[in-house]
Amino acid sequence: MAYQVLARKWRPQVFEDVIGQEHVAQTLMNAIKTGRLAHAYLFSGPRGVGKTSVARIFAKAINCDQGEPGVPCNRCRSCIEITDGSSVDVQEIDGASNRGIDEIRELRESIKYMPSSSKYRIYVIDEVHMLTLPAFNALLKTLEEPPAHVKFIFATTESHKVPVTILSRCQRYDFKRIPAADIVAHLKKIAENEGIAIPVSGLGIIAREAEGSMRDAQSLMDQVISFSGQTVREKDITDTLGIIDRDILFESSAAILKGAPKRCIEIVEKIYNYGYDIKEFYRALMQQFRNLLICLIAPQNDLIDVSDTDKDEIKRQAEMAGKEKLHLLLNFLINREEDLRFTSHPRLVLETTMVKLCTLGDVLSLEELLKRVAALEERLAGAAERAEAADAGGAERLRDPGAGWPSQGPKDRVVDAPHNAQEGKEKGWKEFLDFLATRNQAAHSILKDWRLLTFTGDSLEIEGQSESFSSRYFEDPERYHQLLGYCREFFDRDMKVTIRSHGQPSPDHSKKKPEKKVVKAQEREDASLPKTAQDVLSLFGGHMMEK
Ligand SMILES: Nc1ncnc2c1ncn2[C@@H]1O[C@H](COP(=O)(O)OP(=O)(O)O)[C@@H](O)[C@H]1O
Ligand SMILES: [Mg+2]
Ligand SMILES: [Zn+2]
Repeated sequence: MAYQVLARKWRPQVFEDVIGQEHVAQTLMNAIKTGRLAHAYLFSGPRGVGKTSVARIFAKAINCDQGEPGVPCNRCRSCIEITDGSSVDVQEIDGASNRGIDEIRELRESIKYMPSSSKYRIYVIDEVHMLTLPAFNALLKTLEEPPAHVKFIFATTESHKVPVTILSRCQRYDFKRIPAADIVAHLKKIAENEGIAIPVSGLGIIAREAEGSMRDAQSLMDQVISFSGQTVREKDITDTLGIIDRDILFESSAAILKGAPKRCIEIVEKIYNYGYDIKEFYRALMQQFRNLLICLIAPQNDLIDVSDTDKDEIKRQAEMAGKEKLHLLLNFLINREEDLRFTSHPRLVLETTMVKLCTLGDVLSLEELLKRVAALEERLAGAAERAEAADAGGAERLRDPGAGWPSQGPKDRVVDAPHNAQEGKEKGWKEFLDFLATRNQAAHSILKDWRLLTFTGDSLEIEGQSESFSSRYFEDPERYHQLLGYCREFFDRDMKVTIRSHGQPSPDHSKKKPEKKVVKAQEREDASLPKTAQDVLSLFGGHMMEK
């Protein structure tokens, strides 16, 4: 028997076999069971997700009188004819090549006749958005008063190009891209049935390339099999499909983040020698930096479509680089893409871009600079205070709160010095903030304006500001746990951290520091300004003349 491509061989024949379009299949099946059929249906969605398949199953199901309602038997004459495309009652028309008024007029003539051997005459018009305007108008007339024995199914990948007048006369079904995991599972089943040995990781690559289209996935698998035969290795897949090796991508992003231009040039050389398409590689590199950034911005959202080991490496690189730098690099890549599109020297553009990216990371953004200056200032202020304290009564080991801060520990040296307790606390708190500034700027910029209420050996109570955003910052469990982590790191023990919102009474609330209040009032005046502007004001001790 002649080889039949996988996509045709594996076309679903009953609603149950359609993957990833359960909402559509279920609704259509119910409609058939309850006899509530519309005259016209519109199936919209990307290519290769099951529109034509579902149209055929639907046609078979309503014309088959042997199967259960909604389930074509696939054995009767009607079913068999529809499957092999020879049915006179079910016609598939390609909208792209029959787009004119004449073809639609012809169609209107033919619908007058009763079906030859089944219940309905069914017209499936594929890529219906390709029809000309006069053709649409002619079609509209038919849709306004369709004969009872006629059903229309329109399929389109671009439903926005279908006139509203047509849309409003159709029952509409949106077909979705098929999730990669479902594609992998289906390909696995196909491979097992076809006696093909192929690693699941390889199927994952195919699914990723198919971008939600089952037909594309099956065609890619055909391509791979015809290259490597019954046993397929992951390497065969990347080679045949010209997919950029993940390792090269990770090497590239690592070289850029480390600022290693020489390495970048070597990588471009390698890419060139492998025969990869440079533009394709560039696209993959943008995707790589997008993944790095997404991993920091929305780690939980599962928006990165890569394997678990790759995910770990992405996380490692992303944390090394930081959000600021990744933003900068990704923006640069996006802006430069145009250059690559129109150049006749793609290799040269890629080289210069990558080399530039290596140095870009070192040019700090204004915001980053401000943050650093602010952190430096705080550190200096802390050092000055420490010097004073040292003058007043010996140096303290501030990293150990047991030394400078009152603790419940029996061997604590400062327990018997209640006079200095509050000061010690404040100083230790400041040290912690300095430490925090080196770890998490956002958390630091919020906490630095908060007030320390109590501190004992293993518990910390702080009070937020009244402004709604910053006071709720640590309500996010993840941020709160991060804060606990920083405390653990700094104090070398697990701390209990209680956060009170401003004005909420607390046991140790009595000792207020008036100077601090004044500073706060000043800050609140500028609270409506953007953060960067606020930083500039506080850095230079200025204030806003005009907003
Ligand atoms: N949802 C799906 N479930 C299973 N196979 C599918 C699905 N969608 C597409 N396929 C496979 O792809 C082939 C082409 O699908 P088709 O229904 O013609 O897609 P469309 O009309 O949306 O472009 C089918 O023969 C089948 O092998
Ligand atoms: Mg189709
Ligand atoms: Zn049948």
